[in-house]
Amino acid sequence: MMCDWPEPIVRVQSLSENCENKIPDRYVKPPTDRPLEAILSVHDNVNIPLIDLRSISDDISSGHDHGLDNTLKEISEACREWGFFQVVNHGVSPELMDSAREVWREFFHQPMEVKQGYANSPKTYEGYGSRLGVEKGAVLDWSDYYYLHYLPPCLKDHNKWPALPPSLKDVIEEYSAQMVKLGGRIMKILAINLGLDENCLLKAFGGDNNIGTCLRVNFYPKCPQPDLTLGLSSHSDPGGLTMLLPDQYVSGLQVHKNDNWITVKPAPHAFIVNIGDQIQVLSNAIYRSVEHRVIVNSVKERVSLAYFYNPKSDLLIQPLKELVSPEKPALYESMTFDEYRTYIRTKGPRGKSQLGESQKSPR
Ligand code: OGA
Ligand code: NI
Repeated sequence: MMCDWPEPIVRVQSLSENCENKIPDRYVKPPTDRPLEAILSVHDNVNIPLIDLRSISDDISSGHDHGLDNTLKEISEACREWGFFQVVNHGVSPELMDSAREVWREFFHQPMEVKQGYANSPKTYEGYGSRLGVEKGAVLDWSDYYYLHYLPPCLKDHNKWPALPPSLKDVIEEYSAQMVKLGGRIMKILAINLGLDENCLLKAFGGDNNIGTCLRVNFYPKCPQPDLTLGLSSHSDPGGLTMLLPDQYVSGLQVHKNDNWITVKPAPHAFIVNIGDQIQVLSNAIYRSVEHRVIVNSVKERVSLAYFYNPKSDLLIQPLKELVSPEKPALYESMTFDEYRTYIRTKGPRGKSQLGESQKSPR
């Protein structure tokens, strides 16, 4: 594994402040990857499904009423059709969501010297970063980020979390605890919808005490030439589930559907949930991780918090035996999440090639 970046790191936030009207060539995407290419049609009124979780209590198995059945069905359809949905009435307080986003905005608005103290390396990726892959000369994305671990407890290191603003650690502790709880509820819902025991997916992830969770905070600075670049290139999320807290004012996330890029219009205080590659593997492709990307704009910065809910890193992940039959043979070989992630981190975001859905296929 690489111990350092292949070339000096440039903070996109500094570029944004100093690059005048032209972005450096390193950020210019090939024409076919640019935001306005390959759009067959624009559907302004299309959005990912919005689902109200109020009828789903912590203890799902305790009651079966019409409301619950209906919600389960909505989620099932959203998972099959989109791989993405938004949830409201999810149990996380709106105030906590806003403070989580705003402490991170404050972090990114500190002087560069302060942020540089947390500069990350490709060894663990923890800390302040500006690129994902380690391929020399790669075309880069128009964003900076901060990455930290919460679970398992042995990977959580408060020294690697920002000391400022002073409230950040407490807010992010509380926020993380809530995200783990919400992630657990969604895992149960998905297991039930797959016709499995409600704890089946969580068990495949290693159980409550072993799962991995981490936070990636994305900072997308203003960009003078947003049509030439992307804030985050097309990718599917490598882990289990992602729960994204988007910016409350600025959109940018686009989901790939039927050869179109659909811009997500977030509902107030909603989380955007999506299926990651590990659930695609466990479900033997009944659920699929879906490609998404982020576009930037010249007017406003954007902050988003992606919470990743992942399997224990050294467990073998393979299609669940309940979902494999002679008619539906296993579509994937087993691989640990660690092995999988190493592959992704070497290459940087590249669609879904790692699941064998284009020319390159290690799986
Ligand atoms: C991610 C991601 C989307 C966004 O961090 O994996 O897809 O809107 N983020 O920032
Ligand atoms: Ni993503």
